[in-house]
Amino acid sequence: MTQDKARVAVFGAGYVGLVTGACLADLGHTVTVRDVVADKVTALSRGNVPIYEPELDALLARNYERLQFTLDVGEAIEGAEFVFVCVDTPPTYAGDADLSRVWTVVDELLRLAQGAIVVMKSTVPVGTGEKVRAALDARGLDHVGYVSNPEFTAEGTAVRDFLEPDRIVIGAFDGQHGDAVERLHAGIDAPVVRCDVASAEMIKLAANAFLMTRISFINEIANVCELVGADVTKVAHGVGLDHRLGSYFLRAGIGYGGSCFPKDSLSLKQLAANSGYHFQLLSAVIEVNELQRRRVVAKLEKHLGKLRGRRIAVLGLAFKPGTDDMREAPSLVIASRLLAEGANVRTWDPVADARTLLTGADQCETALEALDGADAAVLVTEWPELGELDWGDVRRRMANPLVVDGRNFLDPAEMRALGFVYEGIGRAAPPFAGLPETPERDAETEAEAAS
Ligand code: UGA
Repeated sequence: MTQDKARVAVFGAGYVGLVTGACLADLGHTVTVRDVVADKVTALSRGNVPIYEPELDALLARNYERLQFTLDVGEAIEGAEFVFVCVDTPPTYAGDADLSRVWTVVDELLRLAQGAIVVMKSTVPVGTGEKVRAALDARGLDHVGYVSNPEFTAEGTAVRDFLEPDRIVIGAFDGQHGDAVERLHAGIDAPVVRCDVASAEMIKLAANAFLMTRISFINEIANVCELVGADVTKVAHGVGLDHRLGSYFLRAGIGYGGSCFPKDSLSLKQLAANSGYHFQLLSAVIEVNELQRRRVVAKLEKHLGKLRGRRIAVLGLAFKPGTDDMREAPSLVIASRLLAEGANVRTWDPVADARTLLTGADQCETALEALDGADAAVLVTEWPELGELDWGDVRRRMANPLVVDGRNFLDPAEMRALGFVYEGIGRAAPPFAGLPETPERDAETEAEAAS
C-alpha cells in the first residue's frame, strides 16, 4: 500500500510519543507533537531531547523540517488526519491502568476534522477502545475513526524497533480506518496483523506477559541451578537453540523492571480479575520477579553476615543498559533494602540519576569511585563500561573482594582467577562449577573425531 504524506498529531512527548513522531516524520509525514509540560516543549523546539534514547536525537534532527512541538491542542489537531495517543498509563493503587491521561486527550479532541482517525498507541486494558469509541460518539465525533495500533518498541532500541518491526498490529472497528493506518506505515517492511480492536489490545498485553513469563521461568530455573550445581547460562543456551523455543528473554538475573513490564503485568492480572478470572500463571510470574531482586541481599549476607556499616557498591541504576529510565528499576529495591539493613551504599550509573530517588545513597561519578574501599560490589545493570573495567585494579581497591553479578555479565572463571569471590545468578559456585570448560567443537573437529 502507498500513502500520500499525511498530517499527524502526536499527543505525549515521552519515549513512545517522541519515537512515534520522529519515525512518522522520517517516513515523510508532517508531525506535530503536543505535550502538557512547557519545559519539555521548549527544549524540543530548540532541538534538545529531554530523554536518552539512542538514534532519537539524530532522527529528530534529520526530520526537523517536518516536526513541530507545541503545548497548544488547537495547533496540534489543526488539519490532522491522524491523532496518535501516546500518553502514559501508569498503575492506579488498585493495579489497574490509570487511563486519566487518555481521557484528557479524548476530551481535547472536540474540534477534530471530519474523517480524522484517533490511533491508540498507549498500552491500555482490553475494552478501552470500545469505551473511547462510545465517548467519541457521545461528544458528537462519530465522524472520527478509532484504531488500536499498539507499540512494541523497547527502550534503547526503540527507533529501530519502530522502523524495522517484527509486525504492525492494527485493530479497527471500520476496515477503511485500518487501511488508512496501514498506508501511513508505507515504507516499513513488516507483516501487518489486521484484527478487531479488542484483539489488538490483547496482543500487546499478551506479548509483554509472555516475555515476562520467559524471564521469570529462566530465573526460577536459575534458582534451581544454584541448588543442584548447574549453570543457567549454559542451560539457557542449550534450551534456546530449540527453534520452537528460541533464545530471546532467557537471560537469568535480578528480574525485569522498567516502565512497561511491571505495570502491564499488574494491569493484565487485574483485567482478568475484574472479569472474574484468576490468572494464576501471571500472578506467579510477578511474585518470582519480586523475590528475585531480594536474593541479591541474601547473597551478600551469606558472605558478609550483617550488612550494617558495610560499604556496598551498586553498579548500574537504570532498569537496563541503553536508557536513563529509572521506572521500576531493580536497583531501587536492591539499594533500598541495603540501606534498610544499615549498609553504606555507593551507586554509579553512566546516565541515570537516582539522587532524588535514593536519598540515603551516595551517587558517584565513576564506577571506580563507587568501588573504592567497598566490601562488596553488586552489578545491577549490564552497562558495557563494567565489562571494560580493569577488574584486577578493582580487586586491589576494594576492601573485600566480593562481587554479586546480578546479570551474569562477568566471566566467573576470570573473576575468581583475579581473586574475587564471585556470585552470579544460577551459576553454581565451586566445587560444583569447578570443572574446566570444554571448548565447543565446530563441525570440522566433529568430522575429524568421527573419522
Ligand atoms: C518491553 C518490551 O520488550 C517491548 O516489546 C514493549 O513494547 C515495551 O516493553 C512496552 O510495553 O512498551 P522495555 O521495557 O523497554 O520493552 O525493555 P526490555 O528490553 O523488554 O527489558 C525489560 C526488562 O526485562 C529489563 O529490566 C531487562 O533487564 C529484563 N530482562 C530482559 C531480563 O531480565 N532478562 C531477559 O532475558 C530480557
